[in-house]
Amino acid sequence: MLREFQEEIENCQKCSLGRSRTNLVFGTGDEKAKIIFVGEAPGYYEDQKGEPFVGAAGKLLTGLLEKIGLKRSDVYIANVLKCRPPENRNPSPEEIEACKPYLLKQIEIIKPKVVCTLGNFATQTILGKKVPITKVKARPAQVKDFLVFPLYHPAAALHQGWMRGPLEEDFYKLKDFLDSGIEPEPVIEDPEQLDLF
Ligand code: URA
Repeated sequence: MLREFQEEIENCQKCSLGRSRTNLVFGTGDEKAKIIFVGEAPGYYEDQKGEPFVGAAGKLLTGLLEKIGLKRSDVYIANVLKCRPPENRNPSPEEIEACKPYLLKQIEIIKPKVVCTLGNFATQTILGKKVPITKVKARPAQVKDFLVFPLYHPAAALHQGWMRGPLEEDFYKLKDFLDSGIEPEPVIEDPEQLDLF
């Protein structure tokens, strides 16, 4: 089912990134995963290889997964944008709008229990709210029929060393959350009610 969907969108030209990409980076992992990790957009190596999180941030993500007993093949990994923005610039609102239905469709096919959003773009895209990651990280929130568990983006933690410790701690919180049976009980607040910025 995912494969058919991948074939359906592999020649996408809904935005200008369709012209500059080397490869569309659809996503990889277990089609039946209980947990999906969602990044921002492919970088240089991801664009070259057609796979998400294969560069330095990917190495960090893979290591963090291993620390909590998960392999990349146990989970599903994708991005908000399927194509690399030139010079790794931030995704534009138009690009996010054009690409978001693809991510939502992947989630619909996989039916995960938990969607871990990495960084501001993925978190705000999935929550549909402009909440800063610092406020919502490691705080599960129910969205439709899955729970969102926001985390700092591994690339941000590579550039800002102070984030490494908190990111690792939040991965252990994620492990506790997954081990607890993932009841919606930890939902803290409706993101709508959060005091924004
Ligand atoms: N950063 C992302 O957000 N996604 C990738 O696939 C790689 C780096």
